[in-house]
Amino acid sequence: MNQTRTADFDLDRYLRNSKKVDLSEIEWDDIPNHPLTDGDVMCLHYMMDIETHTVIYLRDLLATRAAEDPQITAFLSCWVYEELWHGEAFSDFLRLYGIEEPIEPRLPDGRRPLPTRANRWRDIRVSVGVGNGFGIVPTMIGSALARDFVAIHMMWGAVNELTTLTGYYALIRRSDHPVLHQLLRKVIQDERRHFAFYRAQAKARMERSRGARMMVRWVMKNLWTPVGAGVKSEEEVDALGLYLFGDGPEGREHAIGIDKTIAAVPGLESLTLIQDYLDAAERRARERPGWSGVTPMPAPRRDNGHSPAPTHWRESLDGRPDVMPATSDVERREEERAARMVGDS
Ligand SMILES: [Fe+2]
Ligand SMILES: [Fe+2]
Repeated sequence: MNQTRTADFDLDRYLRNSKKVDLSEIEWDDIPNHPLTDGDVMCLHYMMDIETHTVIYLRDLLATRAAEDPQITAFLSCWVYEELWHGEAFSDFLRLYGIEEPIEPRLPDGRRPLPTRANRWRDIRVSVGVGNGFGIVPTMIGSALARDFVAIHMMWGAVNELTTLTGYYALIRRSDHPVLHQLLRKVIQDERRHFAFYRAQAKARMERSRGARMMVRWVMKNLWTPVGAGVKSEEEVDALGLYLFGDGPEGREHAIGIDKTIAAVPGLESLTLIQDYLDAAERRARERPGWSGVTPMPAPRRDNGHSPAPTHWRESLDGRPDVMPATSDVERREEERAARMVGDS
């Protein structure tokens, strides 16, 4: 890409405005006052875990030729930061509700340090073998073969973002928790920008290359797996998919909507990835009694000392609170030089 602006996405605007999701208006203290179902809690754990795993996905993406494209790396720099805070948002939400599995260390005043779930993230990364060549499927195909392969990563990312944001809409539909609704609506705003970037990148590459269109179509048709597969077990992925999209006509509507949007990308006409996946998940649930139901979730622990509402979601209108004095001679010398220059001007 030679320009920052494709017809569908203004990258320059995105980069200049990227920031942590603004949750300063969320009524954190009201979270324990409304019930979540076991299914809601299951979804929140899944979403939290996958949002936090984004940095590992980034590691895999940067091992491909996508890293050669400065537009893509600029986007990814902001994207991974925004995703970190999505994970933290779900973590804070669950903690305020009274669920923290496993229990994590806390600071003397009861708050949790960031990252708020160090034990949980470590456990997940060890169990999926982060240090042992774990990677998304397109990475294995070999990014060195052709630059058209970048289109696969971009389309894969687009489908991930679109299914994520549609999943958040589905959770709003399924859950009655008003504060969760507020939070998800904020996060959806970010996911929408992410989706727009990936789709614009994939589309531009596929429009100009028949090879890219054929490759992306083949990979999506034959190798695509839902976001979270590889980190979560097949049964966990099915449980989430069926809870959000397999609960009746409205769930199906979400799936059909995703498929229609994907099929509008050149080369992907008539693909029905999500509906096919949902059919297969429903078949597995029918064939394997007890498969992928909503399992009982940990009960909230209200007696465990109420967790204070997080303070890190303030809007940073008043500048950075962590201004730091120089800690070395070289820094001090440069600070003095800078001060002299200000004095001279
Ligand atoms: Fe996210
Ligand atoms: Fe995202």
